[in-house]
Amino acid sequence: MVERQPIVEMRGIHKSFGAVRALQGVDLLLDDNEVLGLVGDNAAGKSTLMKVLSGAYLPDKGDILVNNKVVDIKTPQDSRNLGIEMVYQDYMLADNLDVTSNVFLGHEAVRWKFGPIQILNKTSMDRETRALLDRLKIDISSVRLKVENLSGGQRQTVAIGRATAFEARVIIMDEPTAALSVAAIDKVLDLIKQLKEEGASIIIISHRLEDIYRVGDRVVIMRHGRMVGDRKVEGDIHSFREELVAYMVGARDDFSRIEESEED
Ligand SMILES: Nc1ncnc2c1ncn2[C@@H]1O[C@H](COP(=O)(O)OP(=O)(O)OP(=O)(O)O)[C@@H](O)[C@H]1O
Ligand SMILES: [Mg+2]
Repeated sequence: MVERQPIVEMRGIHKSFGAVRALQGVDLLLDDNEVLGLVGDNAAGKSTLMKVLSGAYLPDKGDILVNNKVVDIKTPQDSRNLGIEMVYQDYMLADNLDVTSNVFLGHEAVRWKFGPIQILNKTSMDRETRALLDRLKIDISSVRLKVENLSGGQRQTVAIGRATAFEARVIIMDEPTAALSVAAIDKVLDLIKQLKEEGASIIIISHRLEDIYRVGDRVVIMRHGRMVGDRKVEGDIHSFREELVAYMVGARDDFSRIEESEED
């Protein structure tokens, strides 16, 4: 067995919303520089788990380690300071602002990936945004375009571009290819491959198993608030899909154990 090099480790994460036990002791390992797929049926707990990692939700119980050290993530800013960025299912872009403003939103006083720049200077922010879009081969004619005028695919790439602009080492994407055209999906998947080449570690939540197959190194499967499988992405697409579906519907579970009845 090769020694694993986790950049992120989540241990025994629990999270309930009233009577809904969204996460019931979930463990997750993200290796350095891997693309990890996170799949599961609706309401399995995928977004909740990633919102715990991004600081949007506080877990009821459990630990998070970054580079093998226990960290305290209480807010999105804590997570961001650790180099973790999340692209949300609904992008969370400010529609009435232009592309540059969206890229810099919430980042007004931070380190830019390519060294310090004069923040608050619109011209230099525009220039840096243009350079970011070019580097990521994101096709948008002007950084002064309001985001509400962009196509769905362009919005998704802006959301991803924004997440990668500020020294993120871990990028979480929640359904990055949902509701996109085939061409836009290809763009997003190429972007993910490029970010991996640049050294990032990436978690992608997706219902599109073929997307995970195309860009993923490994995939983990959740069901009813638990982790039920952890596989390398390999073999042909048909058996890959069949195997994942078996986990998703409950026909397979690699981690099932006799339930220690937890304090209910
Ligand atoms: N803020 C919240 N308040 C109350 N319940 C919530 C909240 N967020 C999530 N839940 C519940 O937690 C469970 C897990 O939801 P979650 O959004 O994590 O699922 P998911 O795996 O991302 O599903 P999908 O594939 O549909 O996005 C669901 O039963 C959901 O209703
Ligand atoms: Mg979700």
